[in-house]
Amino acid sequence: MARINRLPPGLANQIAAGEVVERPAAAVKELVENALDAGAVRVAVTLELGGKRLIRVEDDGEGMTPADAEVAVERHATSKIENLEDLAAIATLGFRGEALPSIASVSHLRLRTRIRGASSGVEVAVDGGEPARATVAGLPVGTTVEVRDLFYNVPARRKFLKSDGAEAGHVSRTLTQIALAYPGVGFRVRSGPRTLFDYPPVAAFADRFFQIYGDRPGLVEVRKEAAGMRLSGLAAALAADGPVRGPQHLFVNRRAVKDRTILHAVNEAYSAATIKPRSPEVHLFLELPHDRVDVNVHPTKAEVRFLEQSLVHKVVRRGLADALGQEAVPEVTLSAPRGAPPVEPRVHAIPGIVAGMGAASRWGPVTEVFRRREGETGRGGAVRDRPAGAEGASVPHPSTEAGVPWDLVRPEGAAGAVPDSSETPGAADSTGGGPAPLIPLGQFRDTFIIAVDNDGVVIIDQHVAHERILYEQVTDRLTRGSLESQRLLEPLLIALPDGARDALAAHAEDLVRLGFEVEPFGGDSVRVAAVPALMGRAECESAVRAMAEDLEGLDQGAVVGDAIGRIAASTACHAAVKANDRLTMEKMTWLLQELRRTAYSTVCPHGRPVLLRLTRQELEKRFERT
Ligand SMILES: Nc1ncnc2c1ncn2[C@@H]1O[C@H](COP(=O)(O)OP(=O)(O)OP(=O)(O)O)[C@@H](O)[C@H]1O
Ligand SMILES: [Mg+2]
Repeated sequence: MARINRLPPGLANQIAAGEVVERPAAAVKELVENALDAGAVRVAVTLELGGKRLIRVEDDGEGMTPADAEVAVERHATSKIENLEDLAAIATLGFRGEALPSIASVSHLRLRTRIRGASSGVEVAVDGGEPARATVAGLPVGTTVEVRDLFYNVPARRKFLKSDGAEAGHVSRTLTQIALAYPGVGFRVRSGPRTLFDYPPVAAFADRFFQIYGDRPGLVEVRKEAAGMRLSGLAAALAADGPVRGPQHLFVNRRAVKDRTILHAVNEAYSAATIKPRSPEVHLFLELPHDRVDVNVHPTKAEVRFLEQSLVHKVVRRGLADALGQEAVPEVTLSAPRGAPPVEPRVHAIPGIVAGMGAASRWGPVTEVFRRREGETGRGGAVRDRPAGAEGASVPHPSTEAGVPWDLVRPEGAAGAVPDSSETPGAADSTGGGPAPLIPLGQFRDTFIIAVDNDGVVIIDQHVAHERILYEQVTDRLTRGSLESQRLLEPLLIALPDGARDALAAHAEDLVRLGFEVEPFGGDSVRVAAVPALMGRAECESAVRAMAEDLEGLDQGAVVGDAIGRIAASTACHAAVKANDRLTMEKMTWLLQELRRTAYSTVCPHGRPVLLRLTRQELEKRFERT
């Protein structure tokens, strides 16, 4: 006896519909994508009962002929692809010819359309997937699709819908995302008597972003072109209390997607830059040739597959790295009073350092002035109204106040925790390519390195800079395995409170990866038998204490990655050269070279600035040389 039945077409369609439209927001997405594919400049969406009773999508796109309109509601009917080759390079949002028939099989659907140049339009009606009925109608150019009583004939599906408000919320989020990708299109959304949003067409993404989110400081611009791809958008800036959390909108060729490769790259970029990387807000647009991405891999077209996945990963990671690291080196302005007694120069210009240097510098844009308020380490101006041009900039900074002596001292062969450049593998190649190197002139109070490049004078916090370098080395090595460990000749005993000891015990494995060997030693003590190779014995105790405290304060359920990130930051902090350490010229040069190779040279893992810049323009202005 045969056990296999052929399903009647109506039922087959309903099952297919279940994949394409699972809730009103999905139907809205499909209808709006059709409007965009039809070249609409204005799209209006109306909802009743969160879309359960009515979804209406009106567009002013190219419309359809009556014959096409009747075919459009049939399965596998599409104007967007013709053959297999087309499928390999899809440039439209739709391509399957599934959306309209799927929606029509689970609702009462009315499609009204008039193509440009035709004297009248047509209305096509489909009820629960029953054959379409077409009637002539007088209509404006464009298309209106009305979907009534979604899932009226699929009670199982209807039961799973949420409240009207929740469904309207889904629609709103879906459309917000689409609106971000199509600034040139106006979107108006009404839910019952309320207008959820109304964004007229605008020229650029920044304008659309402003319509949706208003002025948003705390985000930096992302812009990268490489390997035939273009990455653009906005991302949360690094800040003292962590990058702002928020939606993570990803678009591939303007299609909103969920993509693990991109998200992974985003997370990696932030993990390398900060110890507080969790869910930073990003709005990222990746554009690449259509034949390098497969969009036909997911029932709701919400996922894509890249031909060169690792290349995409790299471009996104580097793009973010640049954006996070390069934005807004805080600039300082001088406030020397006119007529002050001349200051005897203690450091003379080194001949040849100004001539012949590339203008491009990662140490900060030359023309932009960013204002840094006291205690604020978040960078990047507001998305709009970012101050540009150096005019009118006067940011007082405590260390530059008149009367503070610029006590530059050339250090002599003092010991420090920075290795000699000859011992550093890879240091030799660090001078080639990339931004112009910073040339150290000396130290100020054994704490700040004063350096110059073609764009001005730069003051570097030596501890923070070294911390930044070590942090990247540590996280880099950790992603490849574990840190090198060194056994202590004489184990260290440290007395710690209960909580701190428990925290260390709970993270024993993470500690081993980092090169620490810490075990309980009876009573209130722990025994430290090994520490990361990059750490000196003098720092061990304070590092272990700080780590224990840090781990103890970790949120309950915090992920291991967080713990590792914190320990890495803490390890780097303790191993780094300190303030008041005198450095040789060689060590300063090494530090600046290494800093230049880090992806995020402008802030430390805790968000503190690594360097301040005094621009050439500012100097020239002050010395009345302009
Ligand atoms: N708003 C519209 N304006 C003009 N033509 C439309 C509109 N909506 C649908 N069409 C036409 O109807 C066809 C079928 O639409 P449908 O959404 O079912 O499939 P698709 O967009 O081709 O592919 P997909 O199933 O991936 O969305 C489209 O290919 C298009 O030619
Ligand atoms: Mg479609």
